[in-house]
Amino acid sequence: MFSVFADYARLFRAGWTLSRRDALIPHEFAHLAPAPVRMIGALSRIGANRKGRPGERLAHAFERLGPAYVKLGQFMATRPDIIGFEMAGDLGRLQDKMPPFSEDAARREIEAAFGKPVDVLFEEFSPPIAAASIAQAHKARLKDGRKVAVKILRPRIEQKAGDEFRAFSRAAHNLEGLSKTIRRMEPVKFVETLKAAAAIELDLRMEAGAASELAEDLADEPKTRVPEVIWPFTARRILTVEWIDGTPMGDLAALNARGIDRKALAKLVIHVFLKQALHTGFFHADMHQGNLIVDNEGRLALVDFGIMGRLDENTRNVFAEIIYGFITRDYARTAEVHFTAGYVPPGHSVEAFAQALRAVGEPLQGRNAAQVDMSRVLQQLFDVTALFDMHLRPELVLLQRTMVTVEGVARSLDPEIDMWAAATPVVKDYVNKAIGPMAQAEKLKTATAKAIEIAPKIPHYVETIGKAAELYAAQGPAPRIDHKDRPARAALWAVAGAALILAAAILLQ
Ligand SMILES: Nc1ncnc2c1ncn2[C@@H]1O[C@H](COP(=O)(O)OP(=O)(O)O)[C@@H](O)[C@H]1O
Ligand SMILES: [Mg+2]
Repeated sequence: MFSVFADYARLFRAGWTLSRRDALIPHEFAHLAPAPVRMIGALSRIGANRKGRPGERLAHAFERLGPAYVKLGQFMATRPDIIGFEMAGDLGRLQDKMPPFSEDAARREIEAAFGKPVDVLFEEFSPPIAAASIAQAHKARLKDGRKVAVKILRPRIEQKAGDEFRAFSRAAHNLEGLSKTIRRMEPVKFVETLKAAAAIELDLRMEAGAASELAEDLADEPKTRVPEVIWPFTARRILTVEWIDGTPMGDLAALNARGIDRKALAKLVIHVFLKQALHTGFFHADMHQGNLIVDNEGRLALVDFGIMGRLDENTRNVFAEIIYGFITRDYARTAEVHFTAGYVPPGHSVEAFAQALRAVGEPLQGRNAAQVDMSRVLQQLFDVTALFDMHLRPELVLLQRTMVTVEGVARSLDPEIDMWAAATPVVKDYVNKAIGPMAQAEKLKTATAKAIEIAPKIPHYVETIGKAAELYAAQGPAPRIDHKDRPARAALWAVAGAALILAAAILLQ
């Protein structure tokens, strides 16, 4: 009984905070609502701050409301198919900064986790150096002299988040009863998924696992670095990793002062991202400047493995295949393939699907990256997926969002960067590996194992990737950057983003 009351008190507080930013029933959308809701909206807007886009206002309100809402916002950002591309973009930029908790509280957490006081475990231990909604970081030194970063979950964050999520569940159940339209958006399932995602972030051993796996994946990349996990000082609420001395990526003045080659660094950022996404499919999905450090040897270090994405091989192949379809402008064939494979729900017209693809792809031909409005292209693709009843796969939306972030970081380092020239070597490497003799043998093995299920697709993949390889081979080992080719190449980055969204939709069966 008391918890019901507490839930509603929480929701009321949230409603109040949202209304102060006109993010409860934003005036931009109010006309879509029935009369009583419009009325409440009008009342809720009295004295509200209406500055900015609805998504920006929502992000502000979520930041004020705390960790569970910050998570909710980040999660909503992965569903542009529901909330629209612009709002997803605004929520994707949610700031996750909070005042730190005290050093004493941090020391108590460590003692509770390892059963010994901090001074026994560490040689030195600093005040907080950065604080976010779920955790904060400290700098420390181990007894053996190694410098480390110690990330500690906020005290009682699990209970607090749990309480908020219970209120979300209640709100979702109530909302579902209101109308069919809302029921179709599956708010209850949405909250369940959100809870599951948060549970992973609330167990820092999962983050340690991610750091360790990524370190292994990138071990053959001499210019990148992933801090080593210090396992004996890692627990559910504590993550300890090797400290990276260096310059934060956002500090351009300091990078310049060090004489860092910013153009090369920009290329490296793109390279590292694509390498993860294409080669293993396991990728850092939070590659903003704050999580990138240029170490003292000039290597690119990644930190913060709280949000990771995973793409299976099939997904990566379909991604490659769609890029290929856009490159060759063979929309009819691409559409045909997707129908045969059952990616688009039956009952739709192949020709109409090809037509929709053409409307996305043709305007991109012969334009460079600066001339292409990525967000418009993506919005159009979301429209296509809606027209053809395709669902978006969250991990691909996450990849697309990371791509936009990575592009932003690269551009801040080198405003003139040619994305495609930077991307070509990794993509080429992927294609080579995918059609190498070993890969073929593996594919056959898989085909035998899952014969009925996927065998019909295999020849098609081999053919597609083979053609793509021919195309790359024809271009020679180094990217050819003559005048005729350059705009098309640059536009490919945008096309890749577009392809990603389509792949996202197509793969959900
Ligand atoms: N291994 C490390 N070496 C140096 N600085 C680090 C390291 N890990 C984290 N930091 C610093 O601490 C900040 C917060 O850590 P991070 O893991 O990103 O936490 P959060 O998930 O709260 O963003 C980072 O932005 C970075 O400045
Ligand atoms: Mg971070």
